Amino acid sequence: MDTIIKKVNPDAPEEAILEEAGRILREGGLVAFPTETVYGLGGNALDPGASRKIYAAKGRPSDNPLIVHIADRSELFGLVEEVPAAAERLMDAFWPGPMTLILKKTPRIPKETTGGLDTVAVRMPSNRIAAALIRTAGVPVAAPSGNLSGRPSPTKAEHVIEDMDGRIDMILDGGQAGIGLESTIIDCTEEPPTILRPGFISREMLEFLLGRIGEDRASTGPMAEGEHPKAPGMKYRHYAPKAPMTLFEGETAAVVRRICGQAEADIKEGKKVGIIGTDETAGSYRQGEVRSIGSRQRADTIAHNLFAVLREFDDMGVDVIYSESFSGEGIGQAIMNRLMKAAGYHMERV
Ligand code: TXA
Ligand code: MG
Repeated sequence: MDTIIKKVNPDAPEEAILEEAGRILREGGLVAFPTETVYGLGGNALDPGASRKIYAAKGRPSDNPLIVHIADRSELFGLVEEVPAAAERLMDAFWPGPMTLILKKTPRIPKETTGGLDTVAVRMPSNRIAAALIRTAGVPVAAPSGNLSGRPSPTKAEHVIEDMDGRIDMILDGGQAGIGLESTIIDCTEEPPTILRPGFISREMLEFLLGRIGEDRASTGPMAEGEHPKAPGMKYRHYAPKAPMTLFEGETAAVVRRICGQAEADIKEGKKVGIIGTDETAGSYRQGEVRSIGSRQRADTIAHNLFAVLREFDDMGVDVIYSESFSGEGIGQAIMNRLMKAAGYHMERV
């Protein structure tokens, strides 16, 4: 299949391109588009055939449900059975934005879209291209992240092209995704509402709004044998770079010394070593392929660059990756969640 690739102005998306993309979605095709979190791979959420195509394009297991994207709250009618009071407050506070809510679905949403579940994940993105595309399509848009299953989520159109060129109908290039990590997922069928996946909308923000918020174990650490995360997707070794990765925790200067020692030994053995440092520490590493993931003073810069750095190490073909760790507060919780998963929870305390 020839994939149409179009550059779109993120501030004023071109109508003609949106019309073309909207028509593809209505007719059951697939279009990748930017959102404020990561790029999504969209199809008509009400068309079981489109959902099947999404799973095929990603190489994703079909028991892993998709997020349904809407452009207006009125679209919820007909998609979900009820909107609990807490969900209403969350929508008032954080929609449109990087937050996904799990609600009870109506029969209108095919089971192909929800991986057989009787709940549905719904999100209203704030990105202009995403919102305009959903509006133009005139249908709710099911969209997982636009990466091949098991690869880091795409934060630039180039990442989507790498993974999806020839597999889908169209890719809208709207520049770099602002936040860089996927949306916070909150299960609103539970009391209190429960975080299934941490994101930019942090536990602290949710606690402040609702008073009480639950956390699925899978959002904070590895699952034990026989335990199952509530978001089926959290069980996979997501966000995984190709090389094995270790996260070092502890006082920053000690971590840097430890990584330097480890890298020196590996390089002597002929290995290619990738190091994830920060603006503050990158200059202290003498050997290896060193990349700054952002500034320790600005956690948002770390979120923004995280997946691109992992992909860069994939492209360079490093044999091993060593990374510094970050504080788990605010968006730091989502950053550490993604880094720990990338490392397969392989962590060392220094
Ligand atoms: O920011 C995002 O959420 C991006 C952009 C494109 O919107 N999308 C995204 O989709 O990250 P995906 O498919 O990569 O991740 C969706 C996650 C999976 O872990 C899936 O298991 C979970 O949401 N999920 C979807 N529907 C669910 C449901 N009904 N119950 C529990 N978890 C659900
Ligand atoms: Mg994903």
